[in-house]
Amino acid sequence: IFLGIDLGTSSVKVLAVDKDGTILGESSREYPVYYPKSNWAEQNPEDWWMGTKEAIKEVIQKNNLPEGEIRGIGFSGQMHGLVALDEENKVLLPAILWCDQRTAEECEDITNHFGQEKLTELVGNKALTGFTAPKILWVKKNHPELFEKIRHILLPKDYIRFKLTGDYATDVSDASGMLLLDVKNRCWSKEMIEYIGIKEEYLPKLYESYEVTGKLSEEVKGELGLTGEVLVVGGGGDNAAGAIGTGTVKEGTVMVTLGTSGVVFAAHDDYAVDSQNRLHAFCHANGKYHSMGVMLSAASCLKWWVEEANKGMDFDELLKEASETEPGAKGVIFLPYLMGERTPYADPDARGTFLGLSMSTTRGEMTRAVLEGVSFGLRDSLEILKDIGVPISQIIAIGGGSKSPLWKQILADIFGYPINEINTNQGGALGAAILAGVGAGEFSSIEEACNIFIKIVGSVTPIEKNVEKYNKIYTRYKEAYQSLKDWF
Ligand code: XUL
Repeated sequence: IFLGIDLGTSSVKVLAVDKDGTILGESSREYPVYYPKSNWAEQNPEDWWMGTKEAIKEVIQKNNLPEGEIRGIGFSGQMHGLVALDEENKVLLPAILWCDQRTAEECEDITNHFGQEKLTELVGNKALTGFTAPKILWVKKNHPELFEKIRHILLPKDYIRFKLTGDYATDVSDASGMLLLDVKNRCWSKEMIEYIGIKEEYLPKLYESYEVTGKLSEEVKGELGLTGEVLVVGGGGDNAAGAIGTGTVKEGTVMVTLGTSGVVFAAHDDYAVDSQNRLHAFCHANGKYHSMGVMLSAASCLKWWVEEANKGMDFDELLKEASETEPGAKGVIFLPYLMGERTPYADPDARGTFLGLSMSTTRGEMTRAVLEGVSFGLRDSLEILKDIGVPISQIIAIGGGSKSPLWKQILADIFGYPINEINTNQGGALGAAILAGVGAGEFSSIEEACNIFIKIVGSVTPIEKNVEKYNKIYTRYKEAYQSLKDWF
């Protein structure tokens, strides 16, 4: 039996699977996010730890799992967050999360110091407010007394690993989002470490996601009621682990997540970096690389449209109205930038907009425009992938939005590619459990494990005449942002 711990932003989920591909059970615990100032987002690492322990105990008890048969644990973790410990391993300040935006100045400092070309050479990416290194600089500038006490820097899931095993370790996929990793060579960047002003020994030891980083300590096993040896593997950042849990491992496979945020994730064998750094260039959890575009509002645009703009209306009714309208929404275009945008514009000031309304515009057309606008936003990332020469042979859609047949058809028509559906929506937690199984030697490879757990169960084919129509509208969609960006 293997456990996948998915340490998310709103909750932690623990999934138990066996080697034959059976899901044995899952449990989760929620915890709060604190917003002490506008643009700040923090969590208490102790809440993660309490929630994780309770969820592990519950999944074992609820499903009568034999305690001596849990052989391995893997992780999928919310990325980029800063957990800083002192020499007694005490948490020095609340964890600063991936969605916290307080570090604009520090990002500018980093970029001005190195210049983007050098920064790309060192760490493969642009300095973005969400990433970890700017957060460390923020602590140095604003709380020098705490900065002086830092002895260990960990990512969220790696704090849980530390509590379970006593080891300071991380994996290269999650470490890619710290702006401290030489992504191409899968090692820490000495120049970045020096610039930030920390010692390399403060950073966790690096592993591949499927490598064993340690074992559950006797004390924790006693507390959780487990017996026997329980191995712990590196695990991955939530997108890389999610990609393992959807079988997005072979070169050419692409995962599109229609969740709160939208992600286009492409697996490739060799390191590839977009010359304009519009996509994140990260290590994949399978020992290779991936490129990723992140849209800040995807399914949340539809949630806003249904719950705010059309309060009281039924979700299915609105989607039914949309399905009765023509592709292209009679010229209505929706820009989905309700929280600014990361990919492709890295523009926190961009805003959501409806364009092309007339007296005859219907609510159904506006709903369709929302679905189309988000899909065009995802196409932006797909186009960059094509631009940098990443092959695309198969696209899988996951996330809440992918449950709508209408949205999947729109996505297929706007992408001009078939969109495949798989048999599982366990995503990161399943990826984490698969990594544990590989690390424990139960599966000979990640591919073998993916073949056991993940099956393609359907496919939505693009409709040729819609593809042509959407190609024309996509040009207008892109022009719309260019015309409005100064106004935003
Ligand atoms: C990835 C990103 C999010 C977080 C939170 O770059 O910011 O996906 O990992 O889930």
